[in-house]
This record gives sequence, C-alpha cells and structure tokens, in this order.
Amino acid sequence: MLKEDILKELSLNRNKSLSGQELAEKFSVSRNAVWKAVKALQAEGVEINAVTNKGYRLGENVLTKFDISLPENVKLYFYDSIDSTNTQAKRLLAQGLSENAFIAANEQTAGRGRLGRSFYSPKNTGIYYSYVFHPKANLSDAVFITTAAAVSVVRAIEKISSDKPKIKWVNDVYVADKKICGILTEAVSDFESGALESVIVGIGINFNTSYFPEDIKNKASSLNDSSITRAALLQAAAEELIKVSEDLENSDIISDYRSHSLVIGKKITFFKNGKEYKGIAKAIDESGALIVETADGIQTLNSGEISVRL
Ligand code: BTN
Repeated sequence: MLKEDILKELSLNRNKSLSGQELAEKFSVSRNAVWKAVKALQAEGVEINAVTNKGYRLGENVLTKFDISLPENVKLYFYDSIDSTNTQAKRLLAQGLSENAFIAANEQTAGRGRLGRSFYSPKNTGIYYSYVFHPKANLSDAVFITTAAAVSVVRAIEKISSDKPKIKWVNDVYVADKKICGILTEAVSDFESGALESVIVGIGINFNTSYFPEDIKNKASSLNDSSITRAALLQAAAEELIKVSEDLENSDIISDYRSHSLVIGKKITFFKNGKEYKGIAKAIDESGALIVETADGIQTLNSGEISVRL
C-alpha cells in the first residue's frame, strides 16, 4: 500500500527531506498519488512537513512502526493512538495471543497508572509501550519483574543520553528529582497453581512533554534531551526490557537497581495495615523489597507506595 511505503521511507530517512519526484519514482506512481498518500497520512494525524523545493519530512518526534526492530520471537503491534497499550495487551491475550509481543503507541487516550490512577499520555511527546511475555514463574515473582523493568528504563536512558536517572522504590523513574516514567505490571495467572501465564509490563516515559495537568505538574517532568530522538529511546527501551525479561536471574539487575536508588538513606513515609510509619530506607533486598528502619523496628516492604523527602 502506497501510504505504508511512504511512511516507511520517511521513517527510514528521518534526517532528510524526500521529494515528491523521488518518492514517485521509487514506488512507480505519479507525484499526485504521492501527494494524496501524504495528505491521507496527515489526515490520520501523522505529522509530515512539506518543505517547498525540498520535499517531505517526518515530524522530528513522530513514531512509526518502522522505528522499532525487534527480535524474531517478539511480535510488534504499533498504534498511532490507542486507549492503553496495557488494555490492548489484555485484549490480545483474550484473543489468544501466545507469543511475546511489544505493543507501542504514539498516544494513549486512557493511559492507566498504578492504584487505578490515570497516566497522562499525550501525542508525540512520550513513549508508551507494553511488553507481553510468558515467564516460567509464580505470581509472587511479579514484583521482581517490575524491579527489572525499572532497571531496563534507566539502562535505556543511560545508553543514549547523558541524563542520570534514579529509581524511586518501587518502580518510578526520576530525573532531577521529578518523575519522568511510570510502570504498571499486570499479570495473568493460573488461579489454582499461582503460576504466571502471562505478564504485561507497561511503561510510559515522558520524552519532551512540556505541559502537565494541574494535579501532577509539581511532581512530573520529562527527559527533554534534544540530542536524542523519541524513536531512539523507544528502540533502546524495547531492547533493554526484552533483555532483562529473558535474564531475570541475573544479579546485575538488583545491583543496578540499588545503585540507581533514589531512596536509600532517605527519610520516607509509608502506610502499612492502615498505619502511617516514618523511617529511614536502609536497603533493598535480593527480591527488590525495601528494608526500612522505623521507631517500631525494621519493616520490610514488598509492595505499595512510599513518600520520600528529596
Ligand atoms: C504509574 O506511574 O502509576 C504507572 C504508569 C504506567 C503507564 C504505562 S504507559 C504504557 C502502559 N499503558 C498504560 O495504560 N499504562 C502503562
């Protein structure tokens, strides 16, 4: 289909403009057909800039499915707009998806966060993706998968930028003391045995988001590194996430998690069984649990949320 061919060509040549003539010759169609296909893509919301005497060029931050290359055993689903990549993953699983799958979108209209919150996911400014895989593990291991996912995000950011990301237990990634990434892990398990059937790791990274809604604007931030592209971040993030998911036993995961911790040594507050505790975050154990020293003694947190004074 001409539209797809043109989108691919523009994605693979992001750093230059392609003239209507060039594209017409390449695909053996008229320049008018190229123009119509570009118009149709633009009408679908794909940002394509037409520069007089130069040609067409994909908007700098536009993502397309041609920006991601995955290992053969991972199936790609890419959407320009979707309600939520995690919700879509659940739908695909319900329809019988049995392979590993990477689901990414340019925009989410109903992005979901932890504890029933929403995740602000505006078009062309963040990367939103979910990875579905089928580990041989139990439901109780799902917490560690989230820990590993946070490590994959800091590794991806460090691979391509000079930012210094930190992990706020349990799985928020911060840059310069503000949250730039959230992770929502959901599991499908066998009710009787507790064995995991599938895991959906959903990750949203604010890439160059300049506006945030009132309720999160003091806490949220974005990478904002003009030397990297959204496409490069998505590719690095996909690679690192797939890598950790295939090697969950690797002790480098927990050591990278610890060395990026934003909370070790800090004063924190948390709720357990309805009671508020204050304490000092002392360590992170092998399973990713947080060890906290409180006035009532040592507490081990396996999940939940903490507030940290930065
Ligand atoms: C949080 O911070 O509470 C977790 C946010 C997780 C957001 C990601 S974006 C991709 C995937 N799809 C969703 O609907 N949520 C996750």
